[in-house]
Amino acid sequence: MCIHLSRPDITEREIEAVCAVLRSPNLSLGPKLAEFEQAFAGYIGMKRAVAVNSGTSGLFLCMLAMGITPGDEVITTPFTFAASATSIMMAGAKPVFVDIDPVSLNIDPAKIEACITEKTKAILPVEVFGNPAGLDSVCEIARKHNLPVIEDSCEALGSALKGKKVGTFGTMSVFGFYPNKQITTGEGGMILTNDDDLTEMCISLRNQGRGKDAGWLAHERLGYNYRLSDINCALGIVQLSRIDEIKAKRRQVAEWYRQMLADEDRLIVPSEPADCDMSWFVFVVRLVEEFTMEHRDRILQQMRSQNIQVSNYFPPVHLMRFIAGKFGHKPGDFPIAESTGARAIALPFHNRLTKGQVAIVCTALKQLLAG
Ligand SMILES: Cc1ncc(COP(=O)(O)O)c(C=O)c1O
Repeated sequence: MCIHLSRPDITEREIEAVCAVLRSPNLSLGPKLAEFEQAFAGYIGMKRAVAVNSGTSGLFLCMLAMGITPGDEVITTPFTFAASATSIMMAGAKPVFVDIDPVSLNIDPAKIEACITEKTKAILPVEVFGNPAGLDSVCEIARKHNLPVIEDSCEALGSALKGKKVGTFGTMSVFGFYPNKQITTGEGGMILTNDDDLTEMCISLRNQGRGKDAGWLAHERLGYNYRLSDINCALGIVQLSRIDEIKAKRRQVAEWYRQMLADEDRLIVPSEPADCDMSWFVFVVRLVEEFTMEHRDRILQQMRSQNIQVSNYFPPVHLMRFIAGKFGHKPGDFPIAESTGARAIALPFHNRLTKGQVAIVCTALKQLLAG
């Protein structure tokens, strides 16, 4: 029996909601789209929401709506999923990486100002693994330099910092709904903003550049087909209505891991940071400094051979060959991101994981650390 890295949590309610759309004539651009967008904006506490077909599409549309073009720079973290940086590159701009804080693993606010130039057009922080720590400091720096924040909240639906929900910190923010996320629509994403003009631009760009209230074949600008179907939206509406239950289940799994790994001094085990309401996305432990990447990779391989799915979240983005080659990055540029990426182990983590399965994972990991 395999212990999976992630699994969606789909109930009969989601299945029924999807089937109801399939029985209707509106499979896309129907009533479920507006319903999902309104429910999502209401949950986060932002004025407008625009559903798109992925988190990546959402981030890319933010770049376009913000007018980010070739020659511009956007400051972001190297310790993230590739799309945080590639969405900047898709707009022809340059991702300018800033090393991470060794505790939160988010962009280090203290290192941002030194990287701001007159080409800088935005800051794109990520709440990595669901952790919003430091976001307020990033926003303070952005305000001081009159820069917009585009929040990559793809991993942090339901998290809050000092009582303020993730997704409300940026001028624009983006969530993702791939099946490993807190809620899923199969594939999907959501852009949030309080700005009506940015909203209308994103609505046009996701729909082939069509104009507001114009005809189906009236294209006003270069656009894309990044629409999210009503089938996906119906799934998202039910998933979103269960967010508190989902958060609680994930918190319980995280707590089991924390209890069972509490005596393990060869690991850095994640905890809920002060002032944060953490919506757990994944459970990533890190080997202490004495271990190398080779040790880590051997552990990953051996756990997989025991049918325990694990992963190496995240290989640092700046060293991915096509990015390193384009921007001239080399090992040592962002040492904290690199050291973290070399020693991280993402353990199986999802709503349906049992305490028994968590115990199997922890026992296997401890044995491999001892060996
Ligand atoms: C931090 C981050 N940004 C962006 C994305 C992209 O989302 P999607 O896979 O929906 O395109 C993800 C998803 O994995 C993510 O974790």
